[in-house]
Amino acid sequence: MSISKESSIIIIGSGVFGLSTAYNLTNEGYKNITIYDKTDLYAISYLGGNTASADLNKVFRSFYGNEEHYHKLAIESRKIFEQWDKELQSPELDTEFVSKVSRLKIIDDSGLIRLNTEITDHELKNLDTFSKSGLRHTQFILDDEEDVARGKGSGWEHKLNLFDVGKYKGVLDSTSGILYASRACTYVQFILRKRGVRFITGGEQGQVKQIIQTDDGVVKGIETEDGVKHYADLTILAAGPWSAKLLPELTRLSEAQSGNVIHLKIPNVEGLQEKYSPKNFPILLWKVNPTDRSGIGIFPLTVPENIMKIIVMRPKFRNPTPVGNEGVHTPSIPLEDESRITKVVISKVKEFISEFFPDLISHGTKIFKTEVLWYTDAINNNFIIDYVPSRKNLVVVTGGSGHGFKFLPNLGKFVVRLLEGHDVDGYLPIFKWRDPETFEDINGIRDSDRILKQQEFATAEDLQLD
Ligand SMILES: Cc1cc2nc3c(=O)[nH]c(=O)nc-3n(C[C@H](O)[C@H](O)[C@H](O)COP(=O)(O)OP(=O)(O)OC[C@H]3O[C@@H](n4cnc5c(N)ncnc54)[C@H](O)[C@@H]3O)c2cc1C
Ligand SMILES: *[C@@H]1O[C@H](CO)[C@@H](O)[C@H](O)[C@H]1NC(C)=O
Ligand SMILES: *[C@@H]1O[C@H](CO)[C@@H](O)[C@H](O)[C@H]1NC(C)=O
Repeated sequence: MSISKESSIIIIGSGVFGLSTAYNLTNEGYKNITIYDKTDLYAISYLGGNTASADLNKVFRSFYGNEEHYHKLAIESRKIFEQWDKELQSPELDTEFVSKVSRLKIIDDSGLIRLNTEITDHELKNLDTFSKSGLRHTQFILDDEEDVARGKGSGWEHKLNLFDVGKYKGVLDSTSGILYASRACTYVQFILRKRGVRFITGGEQGQVKQIIQTDDGVVKGIETEDGVKHYADLTILAAGPWSAKLLPELTRLSEAQSGNVIHLKIPNVEGLQEKYSPKNFPILLWKVNPTDRSGIGIFPLTVPENIMKIIVMRPKFRNPTPVGNEGVHTPSIPLEDESRITKVVISKVKEFISEFFPDLISHGTKIFKTEVLWYTDAINNNFIIDYVPSRKNLVVVTGGSGHGFKFLPNLGKFVVRLLEGHDVDGYLPIFKWRDPETFEDINGIRDSDRILKQQEFATAEDLQLD
């Protein structure tokens, strides 16, 4: 059947992909939308829930090598994040919301340094893309005379000399910044609730047990864990790394892989909190680029919690879980309630901190907590926004890989375009359902040796920094 603005639509998942879908559907006048989530992120998300989307913070960036389509999409989404920040400061903002998350920012212009031991080929592609879009002046090569001179008086000067340019090479990107992820999700949920979107979240009533369909594959809706069936004209699956559990066809195309997250609690001594505040310190990405995926990232201090978050890009682990397609390949689904990082990861963290931030250690910084957050890695890192080939009335919106968050404001427009059957600028073909066997496995989805449960985990003693 064709979908109209009156059609009933069920969205499974209230992470970035589900929220963004509902945001644009309601922008465009779709009226009857219900979102299901097994977790009530609206209740807890201010400090970060346990999902990729409801995290403490994320990187906003528009550098994407020479992938101009993501670069442009990021520039577009940034404007909407800024708009939301304005709305949060507005005196007209709903008091109910102010009391919920106060008026804290969603995006912070901290800037970001891409650091390495050399200027890589990928870095040259980044710079080239900024030149093409007329934004080269926003990039500062740390040891380039012209860039450093331009930095003087630009407001970025104090962030240009944080690292020894004799030893390290890099670029300060003044367009990147911090996204306060869970705050942003909470705000979008607030907007959607005001627009009449129904949220059924938490407990058995929010947890989708299965997608229901006729014998010939026409999807009719969902059944939740409480045994209730909910029917809809269209079902949209946006369950992130859990998606393959409800739709085994995603196996090998888009699967869960673990992400390593470490929170440092910064003590209030010797001006340390001031030094590492977003005003004085940018996001640092050390050796993070597509050819050498072994890098580490660290965020400036988050206030009021005084936490600096570290993320270690590799190794990632899988959690193969039978989902009823035995005999084929077993997809990886998140391992619930596991927050320990591995010994390999903690040793990388310690090496990183002692190289770049010995003052954190000497002033008694502690690891406050560790987290395992799950990526939804798509075979070639491109999002999947398409009808599911083997079914009818089922759309899947997932595959965020390590970079979906920044598109919270504008990803959903591709769902609208898909439903309305118009692709205006060539994005929909990139997001099409694809045959995984025809792509190089850049995220190591098929590499079944890296199983999280089989790793050696860091002990409390390993987590001591001094
Ligand atoms: C460690 C890490 C760092 C990242 N860093 C960045 C970054 O710096 N910048 C960036 O742009 N992106 C980043 N990303 C990527 C980004 O976070 C993801 O692409 C995005 O958040 C994925 O959103 P999602 O909605 O697909 O999935 P999720 O956020 O996982 O949401 C899925 C939702 O579905 C719900 N759900 C699952 N199963 C069911 C079910 N059966 N019934 C009901 N509900 C269900 C879950 O509870 C959850 O709320 C990072 C990801 C990770 C893991
Ligand atoms: C929305 O869809 C549901 C499920 O089909 C239906 O029961 C309900 O009446 C619809 N609501 C409106 C306002 O159309
Ligand atoms: C929502 O989608 C429509 C149709 O694709 C698009 O014109 C509009 O700009 C989108 N809105 C946002 C905020 O992305």
